[in-house]
Amino acid sequence: MISLDLEKITESLRLRLSEYRFKHTLSVRETALNFTKSLQEKGLQDLVAEKAVLNDHYLKKIETAALLHDYAKELENSEQLHLAKFYGLDVYPADLERPNLLHARNGAMLAEEELDIHDTVILSAIREHTFAGVNMTFASKIIFLADMAEPYRDDLDKDPDLEHIRELIYKEHNLEAALIFGLQIKIQDTIKSGKMIHPLAVTAWNSIVGKYKQ
Ligand SMILES: [Fe+2]
Ligand SMILES: [Fe+2]
Repeated sequence: MISLDLEKITESLRLRLSEYRFKHTLSVRETALNFTKSLQEKGLQDLVAEKAVLNDHYLKKIETAALLHDYAKELENSEQLHLAKFYGLDVYPADLERPNLLHARNGAMLAEEELDIHDTVILSAIREHTFAGVNMTFASKIIFLADMAEPYRDDLDKDPDLEHIRELIYKEHNLEAALIFGLQIKIQDTIKSGKMIHPLAVTAWNSIVGKYKQ
């Protein structure tokens, strides 16, 4: 049951987030709805498999997850580590290297505790928006991709990789290909930057590739 008013959440985010993050958040919401609409028109196989009925109730879950995906993004590194410990989350060496990577998992915990959201579709979409996941719901996939490819991110300088994600959704209506491509460029960027690859990203990658690239 989602009793939260989306406009109330939006107003609280306006106060909580920086201007850049707030605009990004609104753009993720709009992009998530646009992606969903575009895929819905094609009667996507993924939706049939998941039995996710794209009624108003499910769309509201997608919007709620989009609005809250970066709820914990702007907390300090020390706060990320403190919260993860408080909530008993697994903290990996990659999290110690870049504590901000915890913001998705911390955000899901905070949304549950502070906003009383217990819906697993919403919470898993928040939790999985940085590294994807295993057995992702339709909503999780949409939030992961909308977060990467919302147009506000590359307003000034069009990123061809993000353009490709948009094309895979809007033109080819291929959610799986977009997901694989999105996670692939995230992992490649991590390698290029010389940082640790998060084990959750590796697990998600193996699961997704194993499932869709047989
Ligand atoms: Fe994020
Ligand atoms: Fe984001």
